[in-house]
Amino acid sequence: MPLKTAYQLLEDSIIYYQGKPVGTAAACDSSPVAANYQECFVRDFVPSALVFMMGGRAEIVRNFLTTVMHIRGQQTVLEGHQRSMGLMPASFKVIEEDGQEQLVADFGERAIGRVIPVDSAMWWMFLLRSYVVASGDWDFARSAEVQECMRQILDLYLRERFESSPTLLVPDGSFMIDRRMGVYGYPLEIQALYFGMLQTAKELLSCTNGSESLIGNLQLLIETLRSYVRNHYWIDRDRLNRIHRFHAEEFGLNVDNVLNVYPESIPDWMDGWLDNRSGYLAGNQGPGRVDFRFFTQGNLLAILFDLATADESQGIMNLFASHWAELIGEMPVKIMYPAVRGREWMHVTGSDPKNVPWSYHNGGNWPVLIWPFVAAAMRTGRVELAERALETITERLKKDNWPEYYDGKKGGLIGRRANFFQTWSATGLIVAHQIYEDPECRALFDSCMYSTPIKLWSNRGNYF
Ligand code: GLC
Repeated sequence: MPLKTAYQLLEDSIIYYQGKPVGTAAACDSSPVAANYQECFVRDFVPSALVFMMGGRAEIVRNFLTTVMHIRGQQTVLEGHQRSMGLMPASFKVIEEDGQEQLVADFGERAIGRVIPVDSAMWWMFLLRSYVVASGDWDFARSAEVQECMRQILDLYLRERFESSPTLLVPDGSFMIDRRMGVYGYPLEIQALYFGMLQTAKELLSCTNGSESLIGNLQLLIETLRSYVRNHYWIDRDRLNRIHRFHAEEFGLNVDNVLNVYPESIPDWMDGWLDNRSGYLAGNQGPGRVDFRFFTQGNLLAILFDLATADESQGIMNLFASHWAELIGEMPVKIMYPAVRGREWMHVTGSDPKNVPWSYHNGGNWPVLIWPFVAAAMRTGRVELAERALETITERLKKDNWPEYYDGKKGGLIGRRANFFQTWSATGLIVAHQIYEDPECRALFDSCMYSTPIKLWSNRGNYF
């Protein structure tokens, strides 16, 4: 029973603080690749949280939300700067000092490359909403502390800087891909999470303390972000054809090629890659730049949050179906396609040996992505794709001891430097099975719920 082992791994990963479960370690590997895998990463906790909520243990998620909210004041501040309480840590751990337990947060200051976890606060908000759906505990969401925390997050994320588009500008490695990978600027995954966060804030912010105008503004931001992403990120055969014939260097307000993308920048691998039923949202957009790489998590979240239209969502699932070997392969799901190679790899990654072609972030296969994949497949009615992916993954993952990622064009090899007993590889699989067997679980994150007021989701049984 692979899932039984997965549940055991989740139990083993639980981190306690003052006797209460507050999070889960990234991995339970006795010789992990890096010391910080024993910490609880905010993004890694998401599938753990979904499993806890589906199993009637929502109080652990509440403990986590409270813990992260409390430790956000720990961040170190650069000289001459002011602390922004809207930033949430990448990870935290519990240490013992003078016989006392202490929580220690990392905001990127101990991370490789000092990358900033822009996605943490967005995942925190995502879980806050799921927690309210699972537990009905509106008092928590409406408490003064949580309301203040949400406002501080928005204060940071909506702050005006040098915007020329409604998308959020971030440095490289600010989300799941937390190393230099040419994902600076306006990466899709951040835009999808940002979109989800704006929707959640609109729903959960109380109309008090002068937040009325903020809530009104959120709706405008949601609409402009959605239409911008749909116009500028979507690529199908028609759009590609338009880019192929773009005129460049157009001045003025009413131009077609607003970002001045040169048709010559279309990579060779795109030739013939899209059939007339498939499409996807590009990885990134910026001045003179379309990152044509396919990023799985951003596309799947765009389906779940309704950032993509219903037709576009079908187009994305068609792309998976038509490129099954490349995008799903022997271990669902490839994080990004295609890998950067040769001199491009040197320039884009800074010659990172962990991110060599078809490994890790550079085109590796990540089992955790099975949960958004199955969720998106169920949402678009593509049950056969969910089944096929689940069949590919389930036995193998347990047999291989829950590796963090796989290498190779088809993901056939265990990642060279992958941890074993990686918690989100196990929890991702549990969540995927749960969603497949009981589509009602989708209420915890699926955006159909955004159009209607939050409905309490009934727990469907205790799996522990
Ligand atoms: C790697 C992943 C990151 C994850 C962390 C802990 O750094 O890129 O997304 O949060 O490991 O599992």
